[in-house]
This record gives sequence, structure tokens and C-alpha cells, in this order.
Amino acid sequence: MEYKVPSGTRDIVAPEVYLWQDVEAKARRIAGQAGYSEIRTPVFENTELFVRSIGEESEVVQKQMYTFQTLGGETLTLRPEITAPVMRAYLQHSMHKTGAFRKLYYLGPSFRYERAQKGRWRQFSQFGIEGIGSSDPLLDIETIVVGWDILSECGVPGLKLLLNSIGCPGCRPAYREALRKYVDLRKDKLCNDCKRRAEGNILRILDCKNENCKNVMKDVPKIPDFLCENCSAHFEKVREGVQRHIPEWEHDPHLVRGLDYYTQTVYEFVAGELGAQNAVGGGGRYDLLIEELGGPQTPSVGFALGLDRIVLSIESAGTEPAVTVPDVFIVSVSDELRTEVQRIVVELRRLSITADMDYEGRSVKAQFRAANKSGATFVAVLGPDEAAKSAINLKNLSTGVQEQIPQKELAERIGGYLTSLK
Ligand code: HAM
Repeated sequence: MEYKVPSGTRDIVAPEVYLWQDVEAKARRIAGQAGYSEIRTPVFENTELFVRSIGEESEVVQKQMYTFQTLGGETLTLRPEITAPVMRAYLQHSMHKTGAFRKLYYLGPSFRYERAQKGRWRQFSQFGIEGIGSSDPLLDIETIVVGWDILSECGVPGLKLLLNSIGCPGCRPAYREALRKYVDLRKDKLCNDCKRRAEGNILRILDCKNENCKNVMKDVPKIPDFLCENCSAHFEKVREGVQRHIPEWEHDPHLVRGLDYYTQTVYEFVAGELGAQNAVGGGGRYDLLIEELGGPQTPSVGFALGLDRIVLSIESAGTEPAVTVPDVFIVSVSDELRTEVQRIVVELRRLSITADMDYEGRSVKAQFRAANKSGATFVAVLGPDEAAKSAINLKNLSTGVQEQIPQKELAERIGGYLTSLK
């Protein structure tokens, strides 16, 4: 039996993993600088949490959840997204009672049973931020800017923001009605999924990726024409802010999102070169979600970025991962000296020098080859004569300078040279 990763999942190893670490570090730094602190929640939650927040009729709940029964009889679901778990935690820890306004960020895996393809996985990683407890449009702008800055600092090519407002329960019924009239006249031309959507959350039809449906829907009434005064003013402020801070953006009057909890602002970050799966992030305002989960009125806004797609896009743009190379590789001239070589390696590492040695029983010549291949800055060689007087031969592979030095000076010599390069 040959074991393989389940379909839609994959292993991430070097050198790709260095790109991930870089993206994750930038995301954490930029969100941290904007005052967001990390929250970690479990990867599974009670199924009802997702049904309630994402919406019973959403594609995610209908078709994409990994739901299972525990031996104790609970029904749990691997999180298909992380906003709902964060809101559950916000309420569970009574954060609304201890200073309602919170800024939180998270990073971790999400799970959706989707048709796996390039850019669409069944396990994928999200980095997200949530600003909880304010309806200020400046907060919408802040989240958009944080998302944009992370993506542009990571070097995502062809980055663009798509922005829209989908209004509130006050103004949405009028739009839904106009949409229904439009759809009713053309229903037979829509795909089967859209026919089903027409009976449920009809707004979803605007999100259909089927080219034929897009064509049928191209003259559909636009949501912003139906916004109430409050939603309209809110959207105007968000647009002004976006205009001030975001170099590439577009008002997409047909933009809706796949999750049911949104109100007013919705947005997506799209990248060039990714084809159909070009959304590298998405988010918006969800002023009613916390109430839906039994909490007090807590208007909130946030986004999640898809780390897998970010890495894919920067890889396709030719970004090379910053690979960690050893500062020094230590060659052992004989088998008996390997323990001694390891002692030196351990000491160097404890002094913050990246040191390595051979673990494959290689000949001296092959150890030199391995040292060169590893990209090490120095190669050090320990033979019996050097060992007898606590010395070691050190060669700088970039300058070619070679000398015998006392072992106790090794760290200082290597560290000094590396510092001189900075
Ligand atoms: P979402 O648009 O469903 O929003 O997902 C956010 C991002 O996760 C997408 O733009 C995409 O980059 C990535 N993503 C989603 N599904 C997959 C997949 N199957 N494979 C690879 N990447 C994927 C949310 O999840 C909301 N919770 C965002 C949010 C936060 N809204 C408010 N706060």
C-alpha cells in the first residue's frame, strides 16, 4: 500500500516553505503594527456555529463542510473559515463586556470540500484580521489598507481591490425584488446551480463563475442604486478612503460574497496570473453576525487572505525563496573525530552561528562537495593534528583565505566576517 496525502491537500517543504514563512512574518508584522493581536481557536467547532453564521443556503454549508460525529455523539465541523470561530470566542470570553472594541488577527488552516484544482485546495491557510465593535467607515478602510499592504509587500503581482456595498436588511429587499424580476424573465437560460439560487439566496447568482450566466446577468440592476441613505453615506466614506490609500481599485457593483453574514462593505483582493482562482483575499462588514450568535449589537469588519494563493502568485512572478544556508560546514577527516566535530557544531549553534556537519558517513572529498553544495560561507576541517592542539582549519569559501586557528576563536572569526558583510 502506497500512502499519499488526501486529494486537495499537500505537503509544503523547502524551498517553498521559506516563501510561506516570509509571507506569514510580513502578515503578522503589518497586522501587529496596526494594533491587531493574535487569537488562536480550535480547527473544529460545533457544526451549528457555521450553519448559523455562514448561512444554511450558502454553498459552503450545503456542499463543502467536513462534518463528523464524535464517539461522544457531538456533531462537529472542521472550520471552513475563521471569522465565525473568532466571534464565538469573542462572546465566550465576554470580550464585549471588557471593552467592546477589539482588533484580532489569526493564521491557520481552513477546510472546504471543494473540487480540487490549482489554487483551490481542501485544506488551505488563511490569515485574517477582524475589527470588532465599530461601524466607523474608517475601520473598513483600515482593514482594506492592512490587507493591501500585506499583499503588496509580499510582492503579489497585478494586485487589485474590488469594492462594493451590499447594503443592510433595510435596503436589500428592494434590490432583491428588482433582481428577482430580472431573473424571472431569464431563468431558463441560467445554469442549474443558479436556478436553485433563484429559489434561495438570489444574490448568489451574481457570484456565478459560469460564462453563460455572467452574460445573462450583465445588465442586471446594480446594488448601489438601491442603497438606503445610511448605507450610501457609509459606502461613500469607504470609497473616499480607498481612493486616498489604494493605488489599484475598482468599484464592482456586482460583487457579492459567498458567505451570508455580510452587510454594507464587501471587498476582494485579486491577483494577476492566477486564472480562475484569482481572489487572494476577501472580506467586508458583518454588523449583524454577533447578534445572530446571541450577543449584543456589535458591528464589525475584517478580511481573510488565502496564503496558498499568495505563495502561488509570488512563485509564478519569479520570487525566489530566501533559503537558509549554513555559516559554516565542518568536515571531519576521520570517523573518530565526528563526535568532536559535533561538539563544535553544537557550541557554534548555541552562539547563534548556523553550523552543520555530515550525517551520511561521506568520505572527506564528498564532505567538501556537500559543504560547497550547501552554500556555506565557511568550511572548517578537523584532522587529528588540529584536534590534538584544540585548533581547526578554517577556509572562507568566498575569499579563498585559509588559516589554522584555535577552536575557541572560531565563533568570533565567523561572526566577525558575517557582520562585516552587513
Ligand atoms: P472567503 O472569501 O471565503 O472569506 O475566503 C478568503 C480567502 O481564502 C479567499 O479569497 C481565498 O484566497 C482563500 N480561499 C478560500 N477557499 C479556498 C480554497 N478552497 N483553496 C485555497 N484558498 C481558498 C472568508 O473566509 C471570510 N471569513 C473572510 C472574512 C473575514 N470576512 C470578514 N472577516
